[in-house]
Amino acid sequence: MSLLGIDGLEPKEIRTYLELAQRFVDDDAASARKWQRSILEGRTVALLFFEPSTRTRISFELAAKRLGADVVSLTAQGSSVRKGESIVDTCQNLEAMGVDAFVIRHSETSVPVDVARNVDAAVFNAGNGTGEHPTQALIDAFSLTRHLGTVDLGGATIAMIGDIAHSRVARSDALIFAALGAHVVFSGPSYLMPEAPLPGATRVDSRADALRDADAVIMLRIQRERMKGDVDEARYAKTWGLDAKVLREELKPGAVVMHPGPVMYGVEVSEDVARGDRSLILKQAGFGVAVRQGVLGFSLAEKGLLL
Ligand code: NCD
Repeated sequence: MSLLGIDGLEPKEIRTYLELAQRFVDDDAASARKWQRSILEGRTVALLFFEPSTRTRISFELAAKRLGADVVSLTAQGSSVRKGESIVDTCQNLEAMGVDAFVIRHSETSVPVDVARNVDAAVFNAGNGTGEHPTQALIDAFSLTRHLGTVDLGGATIAMIGDIAHSRVARSDALIFAALGAHVVFSGPSYLMPEAPLPGATRVDSRADALRDADAVIMLRIQRERMKGDVDEARYAKTWGLDAKVLREELKPGAVVMHPGPVMYGVEVSEDVARGDRSLILKQAGFGVAVRQGVLGFSLAEKGLLL
């Protein structure tokens, strides 16, 4: 079974992924890791990252290895994609060698769906252009629901601030938090706002409007690699960034700060806020492994993943 997006998932399926992540977080002792290695023993996962990645690639690799899978990886640089071979063709060849699953990141939105249509192996979308980033959304939902102690987000407000237009995380987060019952608002400079409505979310005019009722704020990076013009960072930080003063004056007591990374310190978030006690940012990165163990295990384990 593939995971291509949050779009199309039932709330029940989302809750199953969150429960599985919780089990892997709870079961993180070295002794537990030993038996986890039987879950995907004999299976092979291929990592295909055609865009830079730190957290996503490493945590998928750790997740697959902790479940006992063999892991192979390919980058555009060292592969026949450089010689003009299509990614679908590459995946079909790797499947012929016994690859059971592809984890794919690509700047073209259509790639994971194209591959999934043309192979029997499972496909996991690790970020497709400005499309979706479903496992990051699961990480964000897991981090926040764990922090709040409930998966029912009815009555909660989630704010997203920054480059919504180019952010696949914004799309997937809006969908997942809306599916869990939250009210999702977003804001940022007009040149970084999407042209079409963002499903599951409502645009507001300013940082203060976004932060006023928020129980969590997700700050998003300016995706320069997907833009033509440049951005005045000092001005951006002043109007849209989060520092200790803004945190104190505009965010409700108890509300938390999130960011999928990489963080541009001093632009979206100041370093002290990112490292402070109201930040879940490093927790999000850490939970990436357990969340992806849940996703890979659920989709690929032959005997199912009823731990
Ligand atoms: C995000 C991505 O690649 O979409 N990062 C991530 O996966 N942790 C967000 C970003 O690059 O800003």
